[in-house]
Amino acid sequence: MITFEGVTKRYPDGTVALDDVSLECPTGRITVFVGTSGGGKTTALRTINRMVEPTAGRVLIDGGDVRERRPAELRRGIGYVIQHAGLFPHRTIEDNIATVPYLLRWNKKKARATAHELMERVGLDPSMARRYPFQLSGGQQQRVGVARALAADPPIMLMDEPFSAVDPVVRAELQDEFLRLQAELHKTIVFVTHDIDEAIKLGDRVAVFQTGGKLVQVDAPEDLLAHPADDFVAGFIGQNRGIRTLSFAETGGLRLRDDAVFAASADAREAAGLDWALVVDADRRPLGWVRPADETGPLAEARLAPVGATFRAGADSVRVALDAAVLSPAGLAVGVDEAGRVVGTAGGADLLAVPTHGFDGRADDGLPADAPEGAGAGEPAEAAKAPSKDGVGD
Ligand SMILES: Nc1ncnc2c1ncn2[C@@H]1O[C@H](COP(=O)(O)OP(=O)(O)O)[C@@H](O)[C@H]1O
Ligand SMILES: [Mg+2]
Repeated sequence: MITFEGVTKRYPDGTVALDDVSLECPTGRITVFVGTSGGGKTTALRTINRMVEPTAGRVLIDGGDVRERRPAELRRGIGYVIQHAGLFPHRTIEDNIATVPYLLRWNKKKARATAHELMERVGLDPSMARRYPFQLSGGQQQRVGVARALAADPPIMLMDEPFSAVDPVVRAELQDEFLRLQAELHKTIVFVTHDIDEAIKLGDRVAVFQTGGKLVQVDAPEDLLAHPADDFVAGFIGQNRGIRTLSFAETGGLRLRDDAVFAASADAREAAGLDWALVVDADRRPLGWVRPADETGPLAEARLAPVGATFRAGADSVRVALDAAVLSPAGLAVGVDEAGRVVGTAGGADLLAVPTHGFDGRADDGLPADAPEGAGAGEPAEAAKAPSKDGVGD
């Protein structure tokens, strides 16, 4: 764990870059420093590897003051990634990645083999190993920067706006791969960004810095969205806080209904009384929506409206499910299992009844927060199958 204890940094010109910051960055998790430009994020990050020495207070790694460690030795255990990757232009990709192994006097063969392994890890084709940084796109260079920081397998990674200079599509890819990589590596990561959406997507914990180096809030992203500490944080988070909170609400606790799901072999009359029915094939894969009142005979021959977006029950968030419901002609979200088979449907009201982490009065509703994975996503639909079909009909 990385601990900030009352850390203040005043630069010689009098600028207070950090003002009495206390904070913990848990081991194996991603802590994001986010905030306005000049808020002290980079300064805070650099106190960890002693590129900046605090004026007051201490930074501890696993309880030990970093000031008691020699900077060179300290930095060997701390990967560092910056914007524009900061690669050596005159060195090949493999030699850039192997920078720290060379410093550690690994033999060249082992260092390059490690570099090639890491290239694959970060999604780069090892055939690029002999190229120079200028021959790579911005996104590829950024991957090299991450690989280089990982080369000596440091337990801690400091990342300062690593994805800020690439275009939004590549950026989203880098973020997704970064999360996949972290799920394997479990590094202790401190990640700086000025982008609140990036912070919410990547952070296990998000620390919000305000101009003047003040830490205003540290929370899990869903709690930050639900309970911003003050107007500054609320303003910084921006609009649609409530909807964005639904990204953290799980569909595992959702009760999916089966009463609008019909086999293609069923007759339209069986679905009479419903505005919309979902037609599925023999494997329960969705075929489309039908208005039973407009049809006679088997649903297999009915005019179907496209299913539209579906959501993975228990895997996708309530936000994804709600999006599917809004896009569905029936106003119902179709929940599917990992094989794409329909588990059941849910309307907007069902989706909004799922407990969210933050908003007052909602957290205690519905299933307990510790309900087993997938509870409710499959069973109620199974249980409801027979009676609900009987209930519809004529
Ligand atoms: N070496 C320095 N000397 C004087 N002021 C600095 C120095 N480095 C940063 N600052 C100032 O400290 C404040 C915090 O900077 P920084 O930590 O880079 O913010 P952020 O990364 O949040 O944008 C800013 O006002 C910046 O101008
Ligand atoms: Mg900065």
